[in-house]
Amino acid sequence: MNVDLHNRLLQWYEHHGRHTLPWRNTDDPYRIWVSEIMLQQTQVKTVLERFYFPFLERFPTLPSLASAPLDDVLKQWEGLGYYTRAKNLHRAAQLAAPYMPGTVEGLIRLPGIGKSTAHAIAAFAYGAPVPILDANVKRILYRFFGRREADEKTLWRLAEKLFDPEHPFEFNQAMMDIGATLCLPKSTACDACPFEGACKGAAGDPLYYPAPKKR
Ligand code: ADE
Repeated sequence: MNVDLHNRLLQWYEHHGRHTLPWRNTDDPYRIWVSEIMLQQTQVKTVLERFYFPFLERFPTLPSLASAPLDDVLKQWEGLGYYTRAKNLHRAAQLAAPYMPGTVEGLIRLPGIGKSTAHAIAAFAYGAPVPILDANVKRILYRFFGRREADEKTLWRLAEKLFDPEHPFEFNQAMMDIGATLCLPKSTACDACPFEGACKGAAGDPLYYPAPKKR
């Protein structure tokens, strides 16, 4: 993608990004990992206000989580739901301790860490030049590229195409912020979006993309 667009995104992130989120202010891969697992199925506000800090206080390091009984981990997870996440987190900690893997390939082998989560941890903790692809990012890609439908493989290709490998941290965090604040499922604020002008969706009706889910 072009340098101009990437510069606009960087500028936007600098001024409008959610910089105070605690998992954006650490380079500890363990703390980033815990945040990404919690955020897979739980909203930012809930994770931030009720669960992130108490969990890290109880299990401050990877070895402390690995050596804890599963029941303690489940107890600490109470209220977050989707308990498979907690079981996988615990198992992954035991497999990885004392250190988190330093590569996408190492991370993705751990239970509970799929491709997007592996990319998120690698980009945020190690500066690896890899894009993420969660539901918010997918919605931006559908609209930006003017696609109503795309399979997973195509979406990864589009994610790579839009990606800024020079600024993996900022690019990926900014995409999540745009998906959470501007490019919403049922409304958009294209005037405020750094992609406006390059986005196919913004040129017409952004809500036309993606096609509604069949059911
Ligand atoms: N959802 C998943 N990862 C996130 C992050 N790093 N910041 C905000 N929301 C997220």
